Amino acid sequence: MEERTRMAADYWEHRWQGGRTGWDIGYPSHPIVQYMEQYPDKEAHILIPGCGNAYEADWLAAQGFRHITLLDISPTAIARAKTKMEHHTAIEFVCGDFFVFQGQFDLLIEQTFFCAIPVDRRSEYARKTAELLRTGGRLMGVLFDRQFSGDEPPFGGSASEYQELFGSYYTQEHFAPCYNSIDARAGTELFINLVKR
Ligand SMILES: C[S@@+](CC[C@H](N)C(=O)[O-])C[C@H]1O[C@@H](n2cnc3c(N)ncnc32)[C@H](O)[C@@H]1O
Repeated sequence: MEERTRMAADYWEHRWQGGRTGWDIGYPSHPIVQYMEQYPDKEAHILIPGCGNAYEADWLAAQGFRHITLLDISPTAIARAKTKMEHHTAIEFVCGDFFVFQGQFDLLIEQTFFCAIPVDRRSEYARKTAELLRTGGRLMGVLFDRQFSGDEPPFGGSASEYQELFGSYYTQEHFAPCYNSIDARAGTELFINLVKR
């Protein structure tokens, strides 16, 4: 395993074991649910990287989506998700590093994963999401539109910075302030719906 992968795995596992999961909202994210309510294809192959408790996956499976992959680098996170959602045959649980993960998907769902990776890996994130999507596939979800202090995640940013990152791989269908964020994040998020070229 690459040194930075091992360090990330140790860091996140430690946070999960120590209960330092302040990002966890406890229910499926409004903007993601509202988008998926009108998503037409229940057969779509969906990846949620850095899934954590993945409340959205539980909801998606209950809506009839049949191919959902959950990926997290922390064994504790994946074990918890599995304990909670193993009864859904539509969900596959993978413990691993996003940056080396292989697969081909129609939709990637982003929520507080991008802000959790080191800032110097953001261009790699953009390239990797595009690699994991088929042409015409989508990267959909929310990104923080604010800065954070401190040298631990979350790491913030701005629309112009992100647009530059994703512009090489995606056409922007939507990249704008999020109008239906959860209350605690209102006014601090962007909703993205990017189509892989
Ligand atoms: C801030 S949490 C967000 C969890 C979830 N998306 C949510 O919104 O509740 C970031 C998650 O990404 C996972 N993670 C961090 N780096 C990763 C990597 N390189 N590959 C896969 N998962 C990773 C962490 O273990 C953690 O569960």
